[in-house]
Amino acid sequence: MISNLQGVLSAAAKGMKKSAIRELLKLTKNPEIISFAGGLPAPETFPIEQLIEVTSEVLREDGEAALQYGSTEGDSLLREEIVQMYREKGFDISLENVMITTASQQGLDLIAKIFVDRGDKIICGLPSYLGGLQAFKNYGADLVGIEFDDAGMRADKLDEKLTELKGLNDLPKFIYIIPDFQNPAGVTMTNARRKEIIAIAKKFDLLILEDSPYKELRFEGKEQESLYVLDGEGHVINFGTFSKIFVPGFRIGWVIAHEDIVNQFVKAKQATDLCTSPFVQKVAAKYVQKGYFKENLTKTIELYREKRDIMMAAFDEFMPEGVSWTKPEGGLFLFITLPEYMDSEILFHKALEKKVAFVVGNVFHCNNEGKNTMRINFSYTPKDLTKIGVQRLAEVIKTEMR
Ligand SMILES: Cc1ncc(COP(=O)(O)O)c(C=O)c1O
Repeated sequence: MISNLQGVLSAAAKGMKKSAIRELLKLTKNPEIISFAGGLPAPETFPIEQLIEVTSEVLREDGEAALQYGSTEGDSLLREEIVQMYREKGFDISLENVMITTASQQGLDLIAKIFVDRGDKIICGLPSYLGGLQAFKNYGADLVGIEFDDAGMRADKLDEKLTELKGLNDLPKFIYIIPDFQNPAGVTMTNARRKEIIAIAKKFDLLILEDSPYKELRFEGKEQESLYVLDGEGHVINFGTFSKIFVPGFRIGWVIAHEDIVNQFVKAKQATDLCTSPFVQKVAAKYVQKGYFKENLTKTIELYREKRDIMMAAFDEFMPEGVSWTKPEGGLFLFITLPEYMDSEILFHKALEKKVAFVVGNVFHCNNEGKNTMRINFSYTPKDLTKIGVQRLAEVIKTEMR
């Protein structure tokens, strides 16, 4: 090993931090712990038998191409399927508007690589997805948080902040929005709020990143329009992924954007990984073509609805007065707010002693606030353990309450 590793690190690498969540998640690996911590899909939704069938078919019918390098844009069969899926949702797109990514986390890295110079501002929700914040910070972004209410990011606060930044000649590179069943808050942005946010982006001539891994996981209520569709003028870059609606292990996601922006993504991705695995893309494309994707997604939604209901009922039964939580109409998460004086990091360690885990809420706040909040995942835990887990968590909270 060289004597001075620190001395040769780039400024960017010196600023990189390991994800707080990933470090905490290591502590929750003990099988006795009921973990509401990770954002993991339920393994019982993984279509293993169908994938054995589809994988053999791909190898037999298209093996050479599947095992060869592929194009950076992505497998055209898969892109065609994605174009088709999104046209059904009102997206006016063609093949040129779609690039496959090695799941959405790569999209988050690439968007920062493309747009961010050190010190550039990016607007994020308070709270926002930690992996996004981490990707942006690695490129030296200066994250500016905007408060939430029940309808998502507050448009009045966004407008105020952008007016201030414009005065300083320091407008952000883009606005990061997770509109559907947000990670971590479980909140869905209303159509009215989406329109307000788009109008503000247009007023200041800004791009919006619409990161939407959970949109298809709706259990009830009315589907809200995609910001990409509501805008229709190329201000929105939309990210999708198979991670939460099919399997995360495939690492397949996609960027949908104006052709000029997709071209920038292609250039940035080329130097990152040349292409996403053609083999995995072909298996995914065939899986969708055969109708298995829609069939399995319906079952996943039913299972998660049931898991959400079990969790909500347990919350109603056990949580003490003074604790509030979001009631998501879909997705994987709900968000707890404790009385102001409480600190969820202290609770985290007490909860581990009682064999239950969650994620502390302040890691999702780019301004380091939210100490009295926590994220709870309901998709992963087996149904028969949810109630016991919530009971344990409620006991820990009660003991720490004044
Ligand atoms: C909002 C959001 N964006 C992106 C990701 C990354 O997903 P993946 O890289 O598995 O597609 C996640 C994962 O939890 C997420 O919640």
